[in-house]
Amino acid sequence: HFVCVGTPQQRGSNAADLTYVDGAFRELASHITRRALVVGKSTVPVGTAARLAALVREVAPAGADVEVAWNPEFLREGYAVQDTLHPDRLVFGVESPWAEAQLRAAFRPVLDEGTPLVVADLPTSELVKVAANSFLATKISFINAMAEICEATGADVSLLASALSHDTRIGGRFLKPGLGFGGGCLPKDIRAFSARADELGVGQAVRFLDEVDAINLRRRQRTVDLVAELVDGDLAGKKVAALGAAFKPNSDDIRDAPALDVARMLRDAGAIVTVYDPEAMANAARVRPEFRYAPSLTAAVVDADVVVLLTEWQQFRDADPEDLGALVRTRRIVDGRHALDADRYRAAGWEYRALGRPVASRTVEISVDEQDELKRSA
Ligand code: UGA
Repeated sequence: HFVCVGTPQQRGSNAADLTYVDGAFRELASHITRRALVVGKSTVPVGTAARLAALVREVAPAGADVEVAWNPEFLREGYAVQDTLHPDRLVFGVESPWAEAQLRAAFRPVLDEGTPLVVADLPTSELVKVAANSFLATKISFINAMAEICEATGADVSLLASALSHDTRIGGRFLKPGLGFGGGCLPKDIRAFSARADELGVGQAVRFLDEVDAINLRRRQRTVDLVAELVDGDLAGKKVAALGAAFKPNSDDIRDAPALDVARMLRDAGAIVTVYDPEAMANAARVRPEFRYAPSLTAAVVDADVVVLLTEWQQFRDADPEDLGALVRTRRIVDGRHALDADRYRAAGWEYRALGRPVASRTVEISVDEQDELKRSA
């Protein structure tokens, strides 16, 4: 018998996470009466697993023989089942061959598929997760930093990303420029990692993550600036249709959602913002009751002075620029996610702008990696 302990991802401080994790381990250990393996899956500051191993030994009743292992998960929201059954790799953080044997038995069907397995110590297994998320965040901020350079030089970040992606050493996944990353994982994890490294006296090693964070947040202001540029710099009283609220498509999660942040900033600048999202409206309305919400894409864009795409839902990609154009007051659009066909929009008389792309730019074909991603998720 073994039990996997996962805890809810908490918004905000890491301390809140740890209260749950500690509580779960403590509660569980108090009921164990024989040899058992407790497997943690939560994303935690490095050092937590060893601390919990000591905690469960202390709390478990006399006669129990409890060991802790760490088995980080790398699930993406919206692909949880697929990522569980067919992960890119498994990581077992263990303190004994017995613990490894238990985990191998538990994951037998996944291992039989040929899934790579890395057997490691506890701190390495904890680090894998935050290092992976930090790398992904860095990759996104790297291309968004290039977008800033492109804007200063007249270059096109979409073409740049496409050209880079064909280098198999670089690859195209997580190299999609735009409004940047949000959600309950990447932003929180890079900040927690940076703080933990400071505690360990090696903060300098990951100081670049602070810059990764800063680049990411600058994308939000830049999106607002682009919308403002389309209305001659004055957002006051302008009607803006904000398409998207979720932090990414195929999710109703609005935690640290760049889309909602941009909508807030536009509103703060005096714009009359109407938000529409296919799935995340209820969650958005809960945290941002002051926004106007439209029941549909078409309702959102009626009489808009500017449309701004903030989350790349398929519904927005599929929308017909002529049909949308018939509803808006002026055909102006900011594509915050490089999700639309710029040529089609321009051909339909839209003023089309995207972060890191020149005023007149060529449409870039969807990347090979993105096609793979879509197939994988189908
Ligand atoms: C992320 C990781 O991808 C998972 O591997 C990890 O297990 C999970 O965090 C976690 O820590 O639990 P998730 O938060 O579901 O998964 O979302 P991602 O698909 O990673 O996207 C994160 C953000 O990056 C989104 O806002 C997305 O719009 C943005 N993004 C992604 C880009 O801006 N550009 C890209 O090229 C890719």
